Amino acid sequence: FKAVMIVDKEFRISEVDPRIYGSFIEHLGRAVYGGIYEPDHPLADELGFRNDVIELVRELNVPVVRYPGGNMVSGYNWEDGVGPQETRPRRLDLAWRSVETNQVGTNEFVSWSRKANVDVMMAVNLGTRGIDAARNLLEYCNHPGGTYWSDLRKQHGCETPHGIKMWCLGNEMDGPWQIGHKTAEEYGRLAAETAKVMKIVDPGIELIACGSSNSKMPTFPEWEATTLDHTYEHADYLSLHQYYGNYEEDSANFLAKSMNMDDFIHTIISTCDYIKAKKRSKKTIHLCFDEWNVWYHSKEQDKSWIRREPWKIAPPILEDEYNLEDALLVGCILITLLKHSDRVKVACMAQLVNVIAPIMTENNGEAWRQTIFYPYLHASVYGRGIALRPMVSSPKYDSKEFTDVPYLETAVVWNEEKDELTIFAVNRHLQERLPLECDLRHFEGYRLIEHLVVRHDDLKAVNTAKDEQVSPVSYTGSRLSDGVLISELPHQSWNVIRLA
Ligand code: AHR
Repeated sequence: FKAVMIVDKEFRISEVDPRIYGSFIEHLGRAVYGGIYEPDHPLADELGFRNDVIELVRELNVPVVRYPGGNMVSGYNWEDGVGPQETRPRRLDLAWRSVETNQVGTNEFVSWSRKANVDVMMAVNLGTRGIDAARNLLEYCNHPGGTYWSDLRKQHGCETPHGIKMWCLGNEMDGPWQIGHKTAEEYGRLAAETAKVMKIVDPGIELIACGSSNSKMPTFPEWEATTLDHTYEHADYLSLHQYYGNYEEDSANFLAKSMNMDDFIHTIISTCDYIKAKKRSKKTIHLCFDEWNVWYHSKEQDKSWIRREPWKIAPPILEDEYNLEDALLVGCILITLLKHSDRVKVACMAQLVNVIAPIMTENNGEAWRQTIFYPYLHASVYGRGIALRPMVSSPKYDSKEFTDVPYLETAVVWNEEKDELTIFAVNRHLQERLPLECDLRHFEGYRLIEHLVVRHDDLKAVNTAKDEQVSPVSYTGSRLSDGVLISELPHQSWNVIRLA
């Protein structure tokens, strides 16, 4: 019982696009109000943004954040969120049955993003609105000046254009729950026309068309084929969304769910390339996995909260409390994204603060790190460079939904500039340590820098503001001898093995 792998500099998947470590902030629950923005908090800056939260976002080195939704964007009037804050309207947010105060809008979020050192990926409303609102918002954000909307931005205190590069053409438009839900034909036409017009306003932008809300949607993958048929020449990326849960309390099966994500990505690539062939196009559509995470702990509770107490401002909904097994699946998901880094160029952990998030805040209190913070941190910090394709042989198991699940899930990133190699590895085994032998002979002269492990004997261990039960520790069970890394990965663990 052992895993063996060979890592070779020549077996390259792709240069990793750092944007695969993106995230998402929606006007939902306490993500914005009470999350990134809390003017009365002792650590708030002059605009009302919490500096402690900004520090954690910076620690994660998040490259891009999708905004302002999510389901919320399909009923959002962006004009409500600009101009003097005291005159902004309060609106019903029909997606989450809450009240939106509009105290944070486009310009405030751009200010926050600059401070947090992230790019904005803006979504336009293709639910209740369409081409006109989208082109106006783009003109407001990106046009230098001398026109109605760009001058209005200047009047609102933003002299220089925001220069927002990435734009989502709506959100989950295939979902019957979506405000303004559409058929694939309806959405495809609208997305294509909106995209065409937006690229006239600013040819430098990149556009993301909506794919399926998840791989179980009855319209998947026909939705992708039909919408791409309309949008192929206008869009640059197709979006994917997927959340996982362990409702059945079957951890071995839960940890294998990244294999479903792998299949999902394969199918979407095939569908994109089918349309490419059909259109005799030279252009390749890339993938934007702009919502992914574990999401299930809070679902039942939220349903009753939203039913019992609608129309609250910033209700505490979607506040999943993450445990060790969630962190392990998040690690497997990040590894899956790296394995597909030749086609997945952008991805967003959904979401970033309080709402199904790695960062939590207490109102008027502390900001703290959930278990899932750590694999995300490690991948974002150490997973930049060239993703290599290791040859892996691992013992396997079968679970309820999956066969041949490797106990070892792994990806390797080589940072040529820094001369650093990082092996990310999850041992899915719930009882046994996994001996690992890794041939690194092509990395002559490299030494072991550190082996970090996130583990706990209790798969259900969680973190709180006061007590971090699940966090990385340095592990001494690895050594390098004659170009071979010999290790033993603890049971149910996330591992980061760094060499330089
Ligand atoms: O991230 C939470 C919600 O999940 C988003 O609003 C929606 O796009 C998805 O269904």
